[in-house]
Amino acid sequence: MVRNLISVAVVALTTAISVFAQQTEEQRVESLLQQMTLQEKIGQLNQLSVGGFDQNTADMMRAGMVGSILNECNPKVLNRYQKAAVEESRLGIPLIISRDVIHGFKTMFPIPLGLAATFDPELVQQGARVAAIEATASGIRWTFSPMLDIARDPRWGRIAEGSGEDTYLDAQMGVAMVKGYQGETIDQTSMAACVKHFVAYGAAEGGRDYNSTGITERTLRNVYLPPFEACVKAGAMTLMTSFNDNDGVPSTGNGFLVNDVLRGEWGFDGFVVSDWASIYEMVNHGYAENNKHAGELAINAGVDMDMMSYSYISHVEELLNEGKVSMETIDNAVRNILRIKIRLGLFENPYVDESKTEASFYTPEALEAARKSAVESAVLLTNNGVLPLNKSKVKTVLVTGPMADAPHDQLGTWTFDGDPAHTVTPLMAIRELYGNDVQVIYEPGLTFTREFDKGGIAKAVKAAKKADVILAFMGEEAIMSGEAHCLTDITLKGDQRALIEALHKTGKPVVLNIMAGRPLELDFEIANSDAILYSFHPGTMGGPAIAQLIFGDETPSGKTPITFPKNVGQIPIYYNHNMTGRPYNGTETMLYDIPLRAGQTSLGNTSYWLDTTFEPEFPFGYGLTYTTFEYSAPEIEMTEYVENDTIRACVTIKNTGDKAATEVVQLYVRDLVGSVTRPVKELKRFHRVTVAPGQTMTVGFELPVQDLAFYGKDMVKKVEPGKFQLWIAGDSASGTPVEFEVK
Ligand code: NOJ
Repeated sequence: MVRNLISVAVVALTTAISVFAQQTEEQRVESLLQQMTLQEKIGQLNQLSVGGFDQNTADMMRAGMVGSILNECNPKVLNRYQKAAVEESRLGIPLIISRDVIHGFKTMFPIPLGLAATFDPELVQQGARVAAIEATASGIRWTFSPMLDIARDPRWGRIAEGSGEDTYLDAQMGVAMVKGYQGETIDQTSMAACVKHFVAYGAAEGGRDYNSTGITERTLRNVYLPPFEACVKAGAMTLMTSFNDNDGVPSTGNGFLVNDVLRGEWGFDGFVVSDWASIYEMVNHGYAENNKHAGELAINAGVDMDMMSYSYISHVEELLNEGKVSMETIDNAVRNILRIKIRLGLFENPYVDESKTEASFYTPEALEAARKSAVESAVLLTNNGVLPLNKSKVKTVLVTGPMADAPHDQLGTWTFDGDPAHTVTPLMAIRELYGNDVQVIYEPGLTFTREFDKGGIAKAVKAAKKADVILAFMGEEAIMSGEAHCLTDITLKGDQRALIEALHKTGKPVVLNIMAGRPLELDFEIANSDAILYSFHPGTMGGPAIAQLIFGDETPSGKTPITFPKNVGQIPIYYNHNMTGRPYNGTETMLYDIPLRAGQTSLGNTSYWLDTTFEPEFPFGYGLTYTTFEYSAPEIEMTEYVENDTIRACVTIKNTGDKAATEVVQLYVRDLVGSVTRPVKELKRFHRVTVAPGQTMTVGFELPVQDLAFYGKDMVKKVEPGKFQLWIAGDSASGTPVEFEVK
């Protein structure tokens, strides 16, 4: 009898599940919503951080008081929690399990700033896919990535985590990551993306994390919002609000951004999560009286899920009873969350197969994608011909510097799960790959990047005398960049400069490899070395990538995703600034050229600094390789266009050296006169092309005139007729433009 009853119940449950599965996404959302109590609804809006299994937390899941968890990634623990939600709660709504998988889960890829230097969205997508495969094998189905914050201040530690200063590049990288995480089709390896931080977080005043921003609506719309819109269009399932207040309004309480722009204008149907305690922090901002008031502001602004403020779970019911939050607002937040849980297939597949977890990590394919990404993310900044090393001439190399063998630090920021035991450092890779060709001497000089000399420099100098070439690995430890790790001085720390200088004085060629989370000031390094290869933090496979680049088995192709300032005083410095009324013109008098008691004022009266050049150290989009490319003048199909036309332009590039190499060909546009001032240049397209030695290649671009639209004086996005200039070049500071007109 009992058995019969059970089998009837099982049949009923199975039928219910299959009926549920046949409904459309919206029908499923509505049918669940109708069955939910107010407490269960509020529970869905609650995200908790967990560490290990604990019965009280599991009880909350059984009671339907938790919609999502973060920070746990042990598949066994996750399955236990999921069981509490799916099999032991009244409605069986699965948890959405999240983690910060930022540039890889186990196999670490270059930091996002390094990935942006690849200018290779396909490769970035592949890397995000690897991250998703590894993370979902542990039970993580939602990552807080990509970070789309435009950042123009290298003091800001989180510059490491984004794609740099440019809106178009940022959007391309963001979309690639969204596609990679979520997959082309949704299956058990799909990990929902979370585009963050909405918005302007990267514009923190003074480069100090969490600081206020003052970005106008027009600049938001023209510069900061487009990458978010592009990712929403690409299907990003979730979005996170930012910590900062912009123009006085904390993002987590900004209904204009979330309700009006994100949902109203862009039609976003996923859910919005706060940043960690950013609901509560509106109290610290002085924008909310207390956590209850903060919850009211956040939920009414359209923030669906509360990450660790305990505001919704504690106060939303009361706010409803007081008429400060409507049932419709609560229902909509629940709908948004359920919709994504359904879309991700969590109801069908809530669990992870623990027997397959380990085998999904560090596969040969994952390691190869990471190596390739590290190769493409390295930017050759200077080279007097020493690179690539000539294996037949170089007999002995000195490997030195605190980053030569730093398995943890070369992984960079946000590496919760990447195991340094799997890291291949440059020292390991040089020994393994080239140890038969050259003799390798290792003398670190300094053991970590902030160290002051304890006698290691003299040892390195002594060793250098026995070497033909010095390979010096410098930079920043992982801890020097990332969230809340900001600096006012962006030069190499500790005695690294002393080490470089001492090595340079030996007269032996010095090849510098720098691994860092930001662009550093490099004047000194340029003067004291023969080549600089900039690798950002290159991840697990950084070692082989760098070794192969140095020895010429790979060819550099990375380009700077951000302007490298000459010194910190130039910040913010970025290529796509607006033109001033008194532009720098190159004839300005510099500080030490001003005659004593000049008694006159003709110092140029233009927009420049007396004590440093107007130009940065390296412009956006810049990078050398082991050959040279000659660019023809760009050619444009027509010189006059109307709104719905497509501009076709091309350039011919010639590989004038003796090595095949890949070039990132970049197309920039300037709108000469606008209803508001326009950037001096804006990247609109790029192509990576590989050209054989002596070969000539024509690289063509198509650019719909619509892509010239911007928010002008009337705050409406449109193309303003008039004259434009168009460049096709190897970086943002080169090339001669052609002109065209939009009628
Ligand atoms: C705070 C960070 O700002 C955010 O990016 C991250 O995803 C959350 N913490 C969760 O760890």
